[in-house]
Amino acid sequence: MSVSPDRSPHVSAAEGSSVKPPRHVAFIMDGNGRWATARGLPRTEGHRHGLETLRRVIRHAGKRGIDVITIYSFSSENWSRPETEVSFLMGLLRRFVQRDLSELHEANVRIRIIGSRDDLEPGIAALLQEAEDLTRNNTGLNLVVAFNYGARVEIVRAAKALAQKVLSGEMRPEDITETAFSGALDTGGLPDPDLIIRTSGEMRLSNFLLWQAAYSEFYFCDKHWPDFDEAAFDEALTCFGNRQRRYGGLDAKAL
Ligand code: IPE
Ligand code: IPE
Ligand code: MG
Repeated sequence: MSVSPDRSPHVSAAEGSSVKPPRHVAFIMDGNGRWATARGLPRTEGHRHGLETLRRVIRHAGKRGIDVITIYSFSSENWSRPETEVSFLMGLLRRFVQRDLSELHEANVRIRIIGSRDDLEPGIAALLQEAEDLTRNNTGLNLVVAFNYGARVEIVRAAKALAQKVLSGEMRPEDITETAFSGALDTGGLPDPDLIIRTSGEMRLSNFLLWQAAYSEFYFCDKHWPDFDEAAFDEALTCFGNRQRRYGGLDAKAL
């Protein structure tokens, strides 16, 4: 896999105009199972093809000048799936890190993992740590991997950490501001997602980035994740480029 350092702005074919890319795009990579089932294949084949899509998406995000991409790779609720599927997904993560880490590092990608590390198999936890440690000083695309991630438990963890600081006298209750709270989340220091893309036609967050999505734009795509390609990604970026973000205010034109 190669992540191109070429960071050309996306020129929309339809309008011939240059579209300013979102700084942070988050993906809910959904529909692997249905993609496989529709082809008479085991669900695991969908996950295997989904990994190929992920490689394409990382490469394309680099080309489009996006700063941060977050991928929802395994939710804290996904443990409820059959044991065989869960262990296949763990193996896939392992292979992704083992096979792609050096190439991502060479491409100057910085990897960050969000989600709970407690109770993870020690081998997996060590690989995640290795990916973060190796790429810590890279300055290219930021790849945030949400693994064993659930937004509610992330918020509870942040609340506990802040409460602990108040208890120890490090902070006063009035120091708990939105900024302090954001900083205590797993995503502390990262910008909020500008655009959240979910594939496979489902229109829900499924416990993803609940706090961070306060003013994100949403884009739902009917394609299953293994079919999500560069053209579909560009379509989402063009759509984002046409959105008006008001943050509760008014358009400059309306003033
Ligand atoms: C997304 O695809 C991948 C993970 C949740 C790990 P799914 O496995 O949810 O596929 P569908 O939604 O069942 O088709
Ligand atoms: C969300 O997809 C989690 C990931 C993409 C990793 P799910 O397939 O688990 O979500 P639901 O069950 O349809 O809400
Ligand atoms: Mg799903």
